[in-house]
Amino acid sequence: MHWNGLLHQYKEYLPVNDDTPLLSLNEGHTPLIPLDHLSKEWGINLYAKYEGANPTGSFKDRGMVLAVAKAKEAGSKAIICASTGNTSAAAAAYGARAGLRCIVVIPDGKIAQGKLAQAKMYGAEIFAIQGNFDEALEMVKQMSEEEGYTLVNSVNPFRLEGQKTAAFELVDSLEKAPDILAIPVGNAGNISAYWKGFKEYDSVKASGLPRIHGFQAAGAAPIVNGSAVKNPDTIATAIRIGNPASWQLATAALDESGGIIDSVTDEEILEAYQMLASKEGVFAEPASCSTIAGLYKQHKQGLLPKGASIVAVLTGNGLKDPDIALKTVAQEPVVIPNDLNQLRQQLKGCVV
Ligand code: F0G
Repeated sequence: MHWNGLLHQYKEYLPVNDDTPLLSLNEGHTPLIPLDHLSKEWGINLYAKYEGANPTGSFKDRGMVLAVAKAKEAGSKAIICASTGNTSAAAAAYGARAGLRCIVVIPDGKIAQGKLAQAKMYGAEIFAIQGNFDEALEMVKQMSEEEGYTLVNSVNPFRLEGQKTAAFELVDSLEKAPDILAIPVGNAGNISAYWKGFKEYDSVKASGLPRIHGFQAAGAAPIVNGSAVKNPDTIATAIRIGNPASWQLATAALDESGGIIDSVTDEEILEAYQMLASKEGVFAEPASCSTIAGLYKQHKQGLLPKGASIVAVLTGNGLKDPDIALKTVAQEPVVIPNDLNQLRQQLKGCVV
């Protein structure tokens, strides 16, 4: 198949018209990877939707391509967003490609190094506040009203429109909706976008609807707790959010689908993070692994029906956050002299 990106591929399902520039970095069309070891251990059919294969390494590209194309169509000169990192990387990349100024506001010291490197390289103007994501979001909302910058956070409806295409791809691959969709929840845009996508495709193709299982980090679990968290905290910095903008939409997705939302601790996330990479060869960032951690917990609680088809959305690439990876694995490289004999000695008798 010849792939030209989401605006081209799913045009008929998206608010694009003759005046919309068909912006593209060839986003979407990400791999759906069967997780054979975990499937066998847990008695289910588990797949990962590997969103880290998008051009900037996260699912944000799906929504950003449309939000930026629509900003360009409307004659905007600059886009603005708050971010825990991935949104800023995607906004900066698509902003660069569309020739728009890009302003990003991030929580100082709380975004992964890979994401910061991306925003810098793509040429964004970066402001790091001594506050959290929720506070940054309030600031950029205000600035977009006062100064006419186009807000490209997921409160921009074009973001969810673009992101719903991931649900289309799942149905296109599996030929029907999975039984369960496991997804991390931060600002709650993506869970809402998937639900919209599944419903739209079902109404056209009778593809069925999954139950949505959302997962938050225990230190940043406002929807699970039923109240906003003032000082959210988790090693999964992507979802370090205390007052999600799409709270209502997420609750609707959970209720309508007969789904559940639960939290996982940082320890559970890190265990799943390492397990996924070392057992399945799939490296996703910590926030993404809240899905695997959550499903593992639900497997132990007997909540996953035998043989169910389950998709875990792995929202961001593991390379985004090298610091956490390097800290998670205690084993360091064995440093040896530049000498074959030394290596020979180290490896002697290791192959059985
Ligand atoms: N996973 C990753 C890797 C993320 O970057 C995010 C959100 C989420 C999950 C949660 O998605 O917010 O739609 O519920 N990152 C945003 C950002 C907040 O600024 O990059 P959500």
